Amino acid sequence: MSHEVYVDSVKATIAEASPSDAGDVVGDTQRQTMSIHEGLAGVVIARTEITAVNGERGALSYRGYDIGDLAAHSTFEETVYLLWHGELPTRDALDEFTRSLVADRDIDHRVWDILTMLPKNIESMDALRTAVSALSCSDPDDGDRSRTTNLIKARRLLAKFPTIVAHVYRHQQGLDRIRPDPDLSHAANFLYMLNGTVPTKMQADSMAMAMLLMVDHGFNASTFAARVTAATLSDMYSAITTALSTLKGPLHGGANVRAMQMMLEIEDVDNVESYITDALARKQRIMGFGHRVYKTVPDPRSAYLRRRLYQQCAELGDFHFYELATAVAEALASRKGLNPNVDFYAAPVLYMLGIPLELFVPVFAISRVAGWTAQVMEQYANNRLIRPSAQYVGPKNRVYHPIEER
Ligand code: SDX
Repeated sequence: MSHEVYVDSVKATIAEASPSDAGDVVGDTQRQTMSIHEGLAGVVIARTEITAVNGERGALSYRGYDIGDLAAHSTFEETVYLLWHGELPTRDALDEFTRSLVADRDIDHRVWDILTMLPKNIESMDALRTAVSALSCSDPDDGDRSRTTNLIKARRLLAKFPTIVAHVYRHQQGLDRIRPDPDLSHAANFLYMLNGTVPTKMQADSMAMAMLLMVDHGFNASTFAARVTAATLSDMYSAITTALSTLKGPLHGGANVRAMQMMLEIEDVDNVESYITDALARKQRIMGFGHRVYKTVPDPRSAYLRRRLYQQCAELGDFHFYELATAVAEALASRKGLNPNVDFYAAPVLYMLGIPLELFVPVFAISRVAGWTAQVMEQYANNRLIRPSAQYVGPKNRVYHPIEER
C-alpha cells in the first residue's frame, strides 16, 4: 500500500468513527447528554477495601475498623500493618514488622550527599520529594514490581521519611543530625531526631495519635494522584513522588500551616469574632475548615484531635490553644456553617509538640506515606489505566493560513 493510499484510508476511518471513539473531542450528540463533574466531586471510579469515608454520617474506618477504636486501642505501627495487610497483626507479626521498620530507618550516604548539596533554604517538601527520587536510585530492588518487593519498598519509605525530614531540618538549622534510636516508637523517634530529646509519654502518644488519624483518607487528591501514576505501571517511588508534589498544595496539605498561622495571628480569644467577621467579609478561605466529602457533618478526625489537644493543654496546665481553636470553630460554625477538617486541630497539636510550621506538611506526609503505599499496592493488584475524558469546547475546523498571511 502506498503512503498516499494509507493516509487516505486512515482519514476515511476517522471520518466514519463515532464521536465516542474520538477521545477528548466529544460529538454534538454526546454533548446534550454529557454532565461535567468538576474536580471529580462525587464521582466513584473504583472499589477499595482500604478506607471507608462516609461523608453523610461523618464516619471513617480503615479495613472495617472505626478510627475511634483504633485511636483508643491501636498504635501507628499496628494501624499501618492493618492498612498494608488487611488484618490486625498477631503479637509476633507486629514485633517482626516493628523490628524491620526500625532496621530501615537510616538513609544511604549517597542520598544524604545529594540532600546536602541542595540549597539550605529549600522547602522541606521539596527536599523530601528529591530524597524519594534519590532513594529509588539506591534501592537494589527498583526494577521489581512484585507485591513482596513493593511491601519492602513501602516499609523503606515509611521508615526513612522521618529520618529525612528531621535530618534536613537540623542541617538547615546548622545542627548536627541525630541518629535514629532503635528503642523508640516510630512517632517518638521522629520527635527525638527532630528536637534532640526523648519525648514524654504524652508527647509521643499525641504524635502517634495524630499520625494514626492522618494515615489514610480514601481518594483524596494526593492519593488519587499516586494511583494515577501507579495505574500506568510506573514504580512505587514515582507514585510517591507524585503524591508528595500533590500534597504540597495549600488546598490540600498546606492548610495545617495556614490554620496555625491564623491562630497565632488571632492571638487571643477576644479577637476571634472580629478576625472571622473580617475574613469572611473578604471572602477569604479559612484554612482547616470545609471538606469535599464532609459537607454537613464534621470531619470525624477533628473530634479526636480536639480531645488530644485538650489532653496536651491539661498536661501543661495551659489551655490557650484549646480555647482559641474552639472559639474559632464555634465562630465559623455559627457564621458560615463550616466544620473543622483534620488540619484544624492537628495544627496546634503539632505546634505544641515543638514541630516548626514549615514541617507541618512533611509531618502529614510522614504519616500519609503509609496510606499512599497501601493504595498504590491496591491499584497494582486490580489495575486499569486511569484516563478520563474532557468535553472539547474550543474552536473547530479552522483553516491553516501560512505565517505570511496572519
Ligand atoms: C485535606 O480530600 C481529603 O480527604 C483531603 C484530606 C485528607 O485526609 O487527605 O482530608 C486532607 O486536604 C483537608 C482539606 C484541607 N484544606 C483546607 O482546609 C483548605 C480550606 N478548605 C477549602 O478550600 C475547601 O473546603 C476544600 C478545598 C477543602 C473543599 O472544597 P470544595 O469541596 O471544592 O467546596 P467549595 O470550594 O466548592 O466550597 C463550597 C462552599 C463555597 O461557598 P460559595 O462560594 O458556594 O458561597 O463553601 C465555601 C466556599 O466558599 N467554603 C469555604 C471554605 N471551604 C468551603 N469558605 C470559607 N473557608 C473555607 N475553608
